Amino acid sequence: MKSAAVSTPTERPSERAAVIDLKAIRHNVRRLAGLVTPARLMAVVKADAYGHGVLPVARAALEAGAEWLGVAHISEALTLRAAAVHAPVLAWLHTADSDFHAAVAADIDLGCSGWELPQIRAAAQQLRKTARIHLKIDTGLGRNGSTPDDWLHLVAVAREAELAGDVTVVGIFSHLAVADEPSRGETNAQIAVFTKAVAQAQSAGLTPAIRHLANSAGALSRPDTHFDLVRTGLAVYGLSPFADKTSAELGLHPAMTLRTHVSLCKDVPAGQGVSYGLNYSTKTATTLALIPLGYADGIPRIATGGPVRVNGVTYPVVGRIAMDQMVIDLGEATLVAGGASMIGAEAVLFGPGTNGEASVDAWAAAASTINYEVVTRISPRVPRVYRNV
Ligand SMILES: Cc1ncc(COP(=O)(O)O)c(C=O)c1O
Repeated sequence: MKSAAVSTPTERPSERAAVIDLKAIRHNVRRLAGLVTPARLMAVVKADAYGHGVLPVARAALEAGAEWLGVAHISEALTLRAAAVHAPVLAWLHTADSDFHAAVAADIDLGCSGWELPQIRAAAQQLRKTARIHLKIDTGLGRNGSTPDDWLHLVAVAREAELAGDVTVVGIFSHLAVADEPSRGETNAQIAVFTKAVAQAQSAGLTPAIRHLANSAGALSRPDTHFDLVRTGLAVYGLSPFADKTSAELGLHPAMTLRTHVSLCKDVPAGQGVSYGLNYSTKTATTLALIPLGYADGIPRIATGGPVRVNGVTYPVVGRIAMDQMVIDLGEATLVAGGASMIGAEAVLFGPGTNGEASVDAWAAAASTINYEVVTRISPRVPRVYRNV
């Protein structure tokens, strides 16, 4: 019998895409793992891997030497487990409604600031399992984690839960507040509070094997924050946490390129208003090009002036960014050259810079924000396309 022909849908190039280079992810993970050794590396893949797509990134990071994955929510950790990612995963941000039962059942390590402990114990008892927890101390950031004042009580009740067989305290952790400004002294103070908290836990009978404090900035600039494990997010994606250092200076490769195609080009006279509010008006006869990305795609509406590269030239966005589109003014030169020929030309908002395109940081500057936010908020409407899988 003849085998049935398998028909595959014709692959169409995406109208718009966030192209994710997994080779860059693997490079960054190797670079970071080499830098922090003998400490181990956790790839932080919360928020859909900072907008890069959690599963492909998690797999690439593990392949390149990350030994842990980190997420904020239990639901994010469960997504990894549902996709058969079996590596150690830590989830650290919970509410009273978080599904601790599912987390313990799926062997997810849980951050614990204190109030969660009874719920984690209850889940462990129901499952007849021992939950793996990492106690969190607030060493100065003022967010999650036990205060130093409550810490002695927390380690005592955690030890009691351990003796009952409900939990094992595998780690103690905290989060840095100003490591992106390496000259600030507060990091020293955080290290001191952290070291004291670990010693107090040990005095209470706990034997946490994994002490972790560093984020990307700590991993890259403060070896004294590395301890046993570093939790790197931003740097895995090839972006710099420092205002005064580029990705290239850190040996990192930005992984995301945001691109589309010019969807319309038209010649207009001087004095043509552009986009809602008519805040921009053409100074001379010129050609306008329409870029089909807007705030529904996650481009900050405030980012007028953000750079778009078309045919080897970088143009600032003019007028207001709308829900689906934005406009660049190609200028008189293009008018002479015949601007309509630009329809269908590739338009790149940001990328690694290898073809002269702008960086994520340039868009962050245009939007008065940080590179973290620019990549993380690229919306699900923009397909993620993976390279070097
Ligand atoms: C607890 C914790 N650890 C590590 C990270 C990773 O930080 P970064 O992306 O700066 O490396 C985050 C992210 O905000 C975090 O919340």
